[in-house]
Amino acid sequence: MGKKIRVGIVGCGGISKGAHMGAYEKLKKRVEVVALCDIIVERAEEARDKRFPSAAVYKDYKDLINDANVDYVDICTPNYLHSIIAVDALNAGKHVLCEKPDAVSVSEALRMQAAANESGKKLMVIRNNRFFGTSAEAKKAIENGDFGQIYAGRCGWIRRRGIPGKGGWFTTKAQSGGGPLIDLGVHMLDLAIWLMGNPTPVSVSGNTFCKFADCDVMDSPEAKFGDKNENGTFDVEDLGMGLIRFDNGAVLQLECSWASNIKEEHRFVELRGEKAGLSWINGKAEIYYEENNKQIDKKVKAKPTPDAHKENISHFLDVLEGADPIFVPQQGVDMIKILCAMYESAKTGKEVQL
Ligand SMILES: NC(=O)c1ccc[n+]([C@@H]2O[C@H](COP(=O)([O-])OP(=O)(O)OC[C@H]3O[C@@H](n4cnc5c(N)ncnc54)[C@H](O)[C@@H]3O)[C@@H](O)[C@H]2O)c1
Repeated sequence: MGKKIRVGIVGCGGISKGAHMGAYEKLKKRVEVVALCDIIVERAEEARDKRFPSAAVYKDYKDLINDANVDYVDICTPNYLHSIIAVDALNAGKHVLCEKPDAVSVSEALRMQAAANESGKKLMVIRNNRFFGTSAEAKKAIENGDFGQIYAGRCGWIRRRGIPGKGGWFTTKAQSGGGPLIDLGVHMLDLAIWLMGNPTPVSVSGNTFCKFADCDVMDSPEAKFGDKNENGTFDVEDLGMGLIRFDNGAVLQLECSWASNIKEEHRFVELRGEKAGLSWINGKAEIYYEENNKQIDKKVKAKPTPDAHKENISHFLDVLEGADPIFVPQQGVDMIKILCAMYESAKTGKEVQL
C-alpha cells in the first residue's frame, strides 16, 4: 500500500463529528487526519485530543489550506462558506471534498467549478444518498435498460417537526441559502436526477411557505444539527414544493419540509419509466413492472449501508488515486441553478427558464 492520503477538516461541528470523523477513523489505513480547524477552536482541540492526536489545530482556515502536510481539504462549515473555502483551497493547490449544498448561489457554484478546472485539482461535493446499496443497484438496473425511458418522478424529504439549529445559521438565509429546499432538497433531487441519467434542467417552478417558525416541537432524529439561537433569525421557508422540467421532456416534482402536518418523516425518490417504476424510501427500494400480464413488486436487494458518508469518502479517496468520479462539478452547478430558480419562482409566482 502507498502513502496515506492526508486530510485537513474545516469545521468540527455536527456533521463533522457525527459522520466525517468517524469515517476517517474507519478508513485510517488509507487516510490520516493531519489538521483540524474551527473558529470555535476548542472544537478542533477536542477532536484532536479525543480522536486525532497528531493533527495540527487551526482557528483560521487559511492556515489549514496553506499547511504543506494537507493533501485535501474537507469542508464541514455552514453553507455560505463552502464556495469561499473551496475556491481558496483549490487555488492553494489542494483537492476539495465539501459538504452539501455545493454553494448558496449559482455564481458561487460556477466559481467553484472554474477553480477546479483551472487548478486541475479534484472537487467533489458530498452526495451520501448515492452510496446506499439500494441506490447503486437501482442505478445498475436503470443503466441496464430495465426501466425504459424514465419520463416522470417525484422526490423529497418531508419532516413533521424537525427544524435544525433554529435561530442559527440554518434558518438565516444569508448563511444557509434557504430552508429545507436547499438543506434536504439537495439530497433527494441529486439522487433522483442521478438515477434519471443526469438530464439537463430547463425550467423550474415552485412555491415556499413558512408556518412553523414559532414551533419548538421536534420529532426528527435527523434534525439535531447546528447551534440554536433564541434571539436569532428565521427568514427561510419551512416547506417548499416545485416542479422541474428537463431537456429530454422528463419532469420531476420536489417536496421538502422541516415542519408540516404529515404522518411521519421520510425521504423518497419515485421514478416512472416506460417499462418499470422505482420507489426508494429511507434507503429501501422496490421496482414495479408487469410480466405475463401480472403486476410484479420486486424488492431491490443490496448489501446494507450502515455508513453512506464513509462510502462517499472512500470513493473520493479512490478518485484521488485515479478512479473516475461519480460526481462532477457541473452536477453541482445544475443543482444550485434548480434550487435558486425555485426560490425565484416562489417570489415571482412564475416559471423560471434556466
Ligand atoms: N450530508 C449530510 O447528511 C449532512 C447532514 C448535516 C449537515 N450537513 C452539512 O454540513 C455542513 C455543516 O453542518 P453542521 O450541521 O455540522 O453545522 P454546525 O453548525 O454543527 O457545524 C459547523 C461548524 O463550522 C464551524 N465554522 C463556522 N465558520 C467557520 C470558519 N470560518 N472556519 C472554520 N470553522 C467554521 C462552526 O464553529 C461549527 O463548529 C452544512 O453545510 C450542512 O448542510 C450535511
